[in-house]
Amino acid sequence: MQVKQFAALGAGVIGSGWVARALGAGLDVTAWDPAPGAEAQLRANVANAWPALERVGLAKGASQDRLRVVASVEACVADADFIQESAPEREELKLALHERVSRAAKPDAIIASSTSGLLPSDFYARAVNPQRCVVGHPFNPVYLLPLVEVLGGEQTSGEAIDAAIGFYASIGMRPLRVRKEVPGFVADRLLEALWREALHLVNDGVATTGEIDDAIRYGAGIRWSFMGSFLTYTLAGGEAGMRHFMQQFGPALELPWTKLVAPKLTDGLIDRVVDGTSRQTNGRSIKALERYRDDCIASVIEAIAQAKARHGIED
Ligand SMILES: NC(=O)c1ccc[n+]([C@@H]2O[C@H](COP(=O)([O-])OP(=O)(O)OC[C@H]3O[C@@H](n4cnc5c(N)ncnc54)[C@H](O)[C@@H]3O)[C@@H](O)[C@H]2O)c1
Repeated sequence: MQVKQFAALGAGVIGSGWVARALGAGLDVTAWDPAPGAEAQLRANVANAWPALERVGLAKGASQDRLRVVASVEACVADADFIQESAPEREELKLALHERVSRAAKPDAIIASSTSGLLPSDFYARAVNPQRCVVGHPFNPVYLLPLVEVLGGEQTSGEAIDAAIGFYASIGMRPLRVRKEVPGFVADRLLEALWREALHLVNDGVATTGEIDDAIRYGAGIRWSFMGSFLTYTLAGGEAGMRHFMQQFGPALELPWTKLVAPKLTDGLIDRVVDGTSRQTNGRSIKALERYRDDCIASVIEAIAQAKARHGIED
């Protein structure tokens, strides 16, 4: 499909990220968000993202001036070829919004939701032409991280999923087609498991938030950026590979290392997490931390691309 105009519904953390990515890819973008002051916030977010987008490469004609913030859902989607909803994660809200969006959209527009794990069969239940409605679940910051999980609901057509995958790839993303419609999809199930364990570690006084972040960023985090868990563990098995690894570490899986059921979010636990992360941010603003994060991500992406080229690895 040929996408010229991209519509963003909701312009918070994720919606702003989509707007920045779409503008960087040289598209015309319309956006709508009901919050007072949303336009100023959105434009500030895009401006903060722009240096990183310049570094990873803007498409010809890409410009922040090609963003138009409009006053209604209908004005936002009327001429759009691809619509991305990034409204709050509440099923009732998405259900009502998509009924409205799908009535106002061109009949052949693709409609996608950024939901982190709600089921498309549920929140597209009242959409007109639900066959063109998909999930495109991105990762923050949307304008730099390539992954987007794509799946449909019971009524979504295979053509719509293919079209969404093609579009996301055309704006520099790495679409992952999720085979089954399950809550949390693939990536958030993994992240949620780690997050639950991290909260238990804080709650039990085993480690501070900073220590847990160190345990991730100086170890597995570096490996994860170019090899996932399965390939990493294949190497952990030495020359004998994965079968040996499974045999060697299989018994540890039976040990009670992990808790997985989420801890109760008591006031005490919330205070500990907030106090710990305040010490970590150490007075730096969120915007400054976002620029630091973006710089690091762009460096990692460049470094991995160079290493892949040296080793002839393409995937
Ligand atoms: N934050 C993340 O890391 C992340 C990652 C992937 C996906 N998501 C998903 O993206 C979506 C948006 O999350 P977020 O983190 O950007 O939230 P957010 O709170 O930062 O932004 C939500 C925006 O939606 C606006 N809004 C409120 N009511 C609306 C409506 N009826 N229609 C349209 N917009 C409305 C709000 O004014 C706000 O600007 C959620 O579905 C979430 O699950 C979030």
